[in-house]
Amino acid sequence: MSRVFASYRDPRSATELLAIDDDRLRCVQLDVTQATDIRQLVQLIEHDQGRPDFVIHCAGILHEKGIRPEKALSQCDADTLKRLFAVNSIGPLMLAQALIPLMPRRQKSHFTVLSAMVGSISDNRLGGWYAYRASKAALNQFMRTLSIECRRTHPGLCVTSIHPGTTDTGLSRPFQANVKNGKLYTPGQSAGRILSVVGQSTAEQSGQFVNWDGQPISP
Ligand SMILES: NC(=O)c1ccc[n+]([C@@H]2O[C@H](COP(=O)([O-])OP(=O)(O)OC[C@H]3O[C@@H](n4cnc5c(N)ncnc54)[C@H](OP(=O)(O)O)[C@@H]3O)[C@@H](O)[C@H]2O)c1
Repeated sequence: MSRVFASYRDPRSATELLAIDDDRLRCVQLDVTQATDIRQLVQLIEHDQGRPDFVIHCAGILHEKGIRPEKALSQCDADTLKRLFAVNSIGPLMLAQALIPLMPRRQKSHFTVLSAMVGSISDNRLGGWYAYRASKAALNQFMRTLSIECRRTHPGLCVTSIHPGTTDTGLSRPFQANVKNGKLYTPGQSAGRILSVVGQSTAEQSGQFVNWDGQPISP
C-alpha cells in the first residue's frame, strides 16, 4: 500500500490535514530547522519500511512575526538573514541529507522543493527582499549541487526547484496589491501544476529550476 507522510509545524494551522482519516496517511510534526524533528521523520518512515519516491518540500518564509522583507540595505538584519537561510535554504538541504538515503536508487523518483522566481539572480531587476531572494538562490544552488552528486548515487532521481506562481496564501497576502489580474492562483491550481510539471520531469532534467508552466528559469 502506498503511503503519504505529511508534515506540519503547528497543529493549530494544520487542522484540515489532521482531520483526514485515512490509513495511508501518516502525519508528523516537523520544524525543518530542528535536527531532532528530521530524525523523527526518518524513524517514522523506517518504522513503516517506507522508501519515499516522491518528496516535495513546501515550507518557506518571506515574513513572520518581527520579520518583513527588506526594501533597502539599511533594513537588513543579521538575525533575519540567518533565520531565512535556516528555513528556506539549510532546512531543505538537511531534509535531503536525511531522506535521500531512504529513496530508491535506480527507480524513477523525485525530490522537489518550492523555490521562487525572485531567487533568480539574472531575473533580479527590482532589487529589495535581500534575505528571501538570497535564501532561494542558495536553495537553487544547493539543489543543483545535490543533483550532480545524485547522478552517481541515485541515477533514477530527479531533483527540481520549482516556482509555484503567485499563489493566494498567507505568504503572498500582504503583497498581492501589485499582482496583475488573472495572475494570482489558488493553492489547488498551483499544487496541480506543480505535480504535473514535476511528474513529467525525468532524471536527465535533474537540477533544473523551473517555472509552474514547465519552462526553465535561468538561475
Ligand atoms: N505563495 C506564493 O505566491 C509563493 C510564490 C513563490 C514561492 N512560494 C514558495 O512556496 C512555498 C509555500 O509557500 P506558501 O505560499 O504555501 O506559504 P504559506 O501559506 O505561508 O505556507 C508556508 C508553510 O511553511 C511552513 N513553515 C514555515 N517555517 C517552517 C519551519 N521552520 N519548519 C516547517 N515548516 C515551516 C508554515 O507552517 P505554519 O503553518 O506552521 O506556519 C506553512 O505551512 C514557500 O517555500 C514559498 O517560498 C510561494
